[in-house]
Amino acid sequence: MKLAVLGLGNMGSALAHCLLKAGHDVSVWNRTSEKAEVFAEAGATICSSPDDAVAVSDFVIICIKGHKETVELVNGLSVALKGKTICDMSTGDTSDADRVVAILERQGAGYMLGMINAYPSGIGGDETTILTVGSAGTWDRYGSIIKELGGKSARVGEKPAALAALFAGLFTVRQGFMFGMIYGALVCQKAGIPMQVYADQLPATIKLVNDYHDLFARTVPTEDYDNAEASLKVYALAQEDALKTFQSVNAPAEFIRLMHDRTRAAWNEGYGDKQLTSLVQHMADT
Ligand SMILES: NC(=O)c1ccc[n+]([C@@H]2O[C@H](COP(=O)([O-])OP(=O)(O)OC[C@H]3O[C@@H](n4cnc5c(N)ncnc54)[C@H](OP(=O)(O)O)[C@@H]3O)[C@@H](O)[C@H]2O)c1
Repeated sequence: MKLAVLGLGNMGSALAHCLLKAGHDVSVWNRTSEKAEVFAEAGATICSSPDDAVAVSDFVIICIKGHKETVELVNGLSVALKGKTICDMSTGDTSDADRVVAILERQGAGYMLGMINAYPSGIGGDETTILTVGSAGTWDRYGSIIKELGGKSARVGEKPAALAALFAGLFTVRQGFMFGMIYGALVCQKAGIPMQVYADQLPATIKLVNDYHDLFARTVPTEDYDNAEASLKVYALAQEDALKTFQSVNAPAEFIRLMHDRTRAAWNEGYGDKQLTSLVQHMADT
């Protein structure tokens, strides 16, 4: 199988080095040719145009500034793309990603888009993830190569919107945690608790986040929300207490109120004895 890497900036270089190190037959191209020349020593075929690199390759990884530039690059190719698979690992918004997919499909190429969740130094690592979209067939053929670039890589769907949704979902988890600390700081500050005391107490509560994850992973994928160790109504009552505390010290209460209102609404509709995570089901249905 012949591979190509187009774009040898920090990330493209890391991808190309990793594939060469794994013993693949790799052609490389970069707009500024000096960056490509250094790959001769590592055994790559240096190409003077993207057409030359694509012509000799089955699977082409593009890693340049963004999807917009990928569209221009692919538009400028004169070589036939039918039967080849192009994987764009450049970043960009969903509409540009849709454009990349549309142009590749029009030209009869298989497509894959990859979201790299690592710095260049992480490429080739066992724990590194590159999340991809594309057909199941392209993943069957080339997924093993993506896994050489990042051991925990996975295909998450067919269309670019799947990558955007997964980013939004995971970002919401991190931001929810950050905003929890921010709002928590405010209620403590208003009550006169030094921020150092608050910061020092965080690790103990963060430990419980692992238990939250265990509960989530055990219940949401299976939709098994029965036999709760701590039921949704218990959480609703604790949230009510916390909400009253926020209000009593005049701290911004909208975050805890949102949690409470959602939980209370589910309780009112018969979810009181279920797991708190049953909110995923309740909120999806409302
Ligand atoms: N670095 C990271 O940690 C990281 C992590 C995840 C994802 N990414 C993504 O990977 C992509 C590349 O990032 P990078 O860190 O490698 O950036 P970089 O070091 O700045 O390199 C940019 C690359 O894009 C090429 N390029 C820019 N405009 C182009 C155009 N119009 N036509 C053809 N080639 C063009 C550059 O070519 P020249 O050498 O000729 O300028 C260079 O090879 C970006 O989409 C980035 O978001 C990067």
